Amino acid sequence: MKRALNLWRGSLVLAPLCLALVVGCRPADGKKSDVIKIGEFASLTGKEATFGQSSHEGTVLAIEELNAAGGVLGKRIELLTEDTQSKAGEPATVVNKLISRDGVVGILGEVASSRSLEAAPICQQNKIPMVSPSSTNPKVTEVGDYIFRVCFIDPFQGTVMANFASRTLKATRVAIFTDVKSDYSKGLAKFFKDQILRNGGQIVAELDFNGGDKDFKGQLTAIKAANPEAVFVPGYYTDAALIAIQARQLGLNVPLLGGDGWESEKLTEIGKEAVEGDYFSTHYSAEVGSDMSKAFVANYQKRWQGRTPDALAACGYDSALVLVDAIRRAGSTEGAKVRDALAATKDFKAVTGTITINAQRDASKSAVILTIRDGQYKYLETIEP
Ligand code: PHE
Repeated sequence: MKRALNLWRGSLVLAPLCLALVVGCRPADGKKSDVIKIGEFASLTGKEATFGQSSHEGTVLAIEELNAAGGVLGKRIELLTEDTQSKAGEPATVVNKLISRDGVVGILGEVASSRSLEAAPICQQNKIPMVSPSSTNPKVTEVGDYIFRVCFIDPFQGTVMANFASRTLKATRVAIFTDVKSDYSKGLAKFFKDQILRNGGQIVAELDFNGGDKDFKGQLTAIKAANPEAVFVPGYYTDAALIAIQARQLGLNVPLLGGDGWESEKLTEIGKEAVEGDYFSTHYSAEVGSDMSKAFVANYQKRWQGRTPDALAACGYDSALVLVDAIRRAGSTEGAKVRDALAATKDFKAVTGTITINAQRDASKSAVILTIRDGQYKYLETIEP
């Protein structure tokens, strides 16, 4: 009995020592160990929480499937996820942590362009390839040659929605309501406006808000007074839903148009009948697509309690596939080699379409237009680049 106690005591003393040894043996850079570490930064909480959650679910599914098929370079892939809380300032903190403390060899994220723009210079400086699943502002990949994305960019998306307004809705008098706190919103507003003007349309009102505002009535009153036939609101879902509600309360009953930032089940949950009949463009619809897309929907539903994947989930999934494929082709996790392999991505079959990375490190892909009917998103059409 006494002996056992001593042994037990001895192991208590030894335990921290063993732990220290194990930790000490683990290579700090994560490159020589038996796992390949990939970092993800996403808005899992906060104002745009559904963006991060959906994107994360797609990313996790991809990594699990890749690991089930043997991982990459003979190693298991480990995904390390950090929450940006939908807040400026967090992306820099968490991406620094992923690189310096965790030793990730590549980074997936973010959804929101402003947050990708905050993290991109850090990835660039550290020569760690970053792949954004769905940030669409052109400036993101302009940061440098380590920064990629697997989605289309806003000059295309803005053109798609402007043509929809001009040609499908036959609207010639259009208003724009921009979130001046968001790089995404400002960029998309400009590209939309340029194309409306090229189409011979007229911008009858241009007003601003700050993401997170609660009262939009002053600006919406001015928009209504300009008598538009459609209003473009290139914002994120929480703001867009409130804007729709207040627009209807003021009797502004023309269609509201949005971009991919509208995509969230919260848009209809908050906006209810106020968003009925509105339109937005996005990257993917589970209603249409390839065999690969159908398998993705089925596997996603199996993995995530029957939920149907949205565009964010699909883009998150694709971002992981593209990064891991590049690591495989590079035959290495060295930053410069993975960067070169990413840049050489060509005709890669993904859920949101076929991905070829162009000279600007963007993907040229089709967009879909959805409308809201009976509280559901309904697929209308696909627009090729
Ligand atoms: N494209 C948006 C941005 O750049 C983010 C987004 C993508 C939102 C896809 C919803 C769906 O900020």
